Amino acid sequence: MLAETDHRFVLGNLGRFTDIVRLKDGRSLTVRFIEPKDADALSSYFRSLSRQSRYNRLMSAVSELPPSELDKALHVGEGSRFAVVAEMKIDGVETIVGESRYSYDARTQDTEFGLSIGDAWQGQGIGSAMLSNLECRAAALGASRLFGETLRNNEQMIGLARRAGYVFAGTPSDWRQVRFEKPLHRATEIPCESWKQAAMAGWLQNAALLVAH
Ligand SMILES: CC(C)(COP(=O)(O)OP(=O)(O)OC[C@H]1O[C@@H](n2cnc3c(N)ncnc32)[C@H](O)[C@@H]1OP(=O)(O)O)[C@@H](O)C(=O)NCCC(=O)NCCS
Repeated sequence: MLAETDHRFVLGNLGRFTDIVRLKDGRSLTVRFIEPKDADALSSYFRSLSRQSRYNRLMSAVSELPPSELDKALHVGEGSRFAVVAEMKIDGVETIVGESRYSYDARTQDTEFGLSIGDAWQGQGIGSAMLSNLECRAAALGASRLFGETLRNNEQMIGLARRAGYVFAGTPSDWRQVRFEKPLHRATEIPCESWKQAAMAGWLQNAALLVAH
């Protein structure tokens, strides 16, 4: 398991944790940690989301990612918070098509996540692929459960969670939301670089996860 309070120093070179994920239709998606150089591209990505997608993702009617949230996203590992982007080559240019942020609680071994896919790329299996990748990344941190919360009327996220085997349980932090969760003992069916790096460094101490692997 990684250090409990601050992963910045353990992660080192963030590029090492990059995954190439194959979509159902054969296209490949790169999932990688956000780096400070991504600030402008990430801000543009959030501005380009439809009002509805941005509202569903941030749960407030803002036109862009608030600076305090951007700052957190750019400091991967700090306070056990992580942020990744999914990129695809569009017309020869690597383009952000999705993003996710997740945070790990070493006390409860829970990881909470939120994600979005750009409107033009929704419904193509990218959300499913990213979620599988997140499961592996969370397991590599030592998490035994991944959970999220979304607005009660967010059919897309509810559909994605249901399809990926999440159960709707627990008390959401806000009455407008539902909470969904999944145990991570099967997470390693989909390998990711974070898992491999953690295994090599001897961080994986969760016996249940090792057996499943
Ligand atoms: C929710 C979201 C991440 C889903 O990503 P996506 O790439 O569109 O999802 P996928 O194409 O991988 O679809 C996976 C499954 O989700 C479900 N799903 C997707 N779109 C759906 C829709 N419009 N209605 C109901 N279910 C839907 C389906 O079960 C689908 O599986 P299927 O294609 O085999 O039927 C994306 O719609 C999004 O970014 N929305 C805006 C931001 C948001 O709501 N974020 C969630 C906050 S936590």
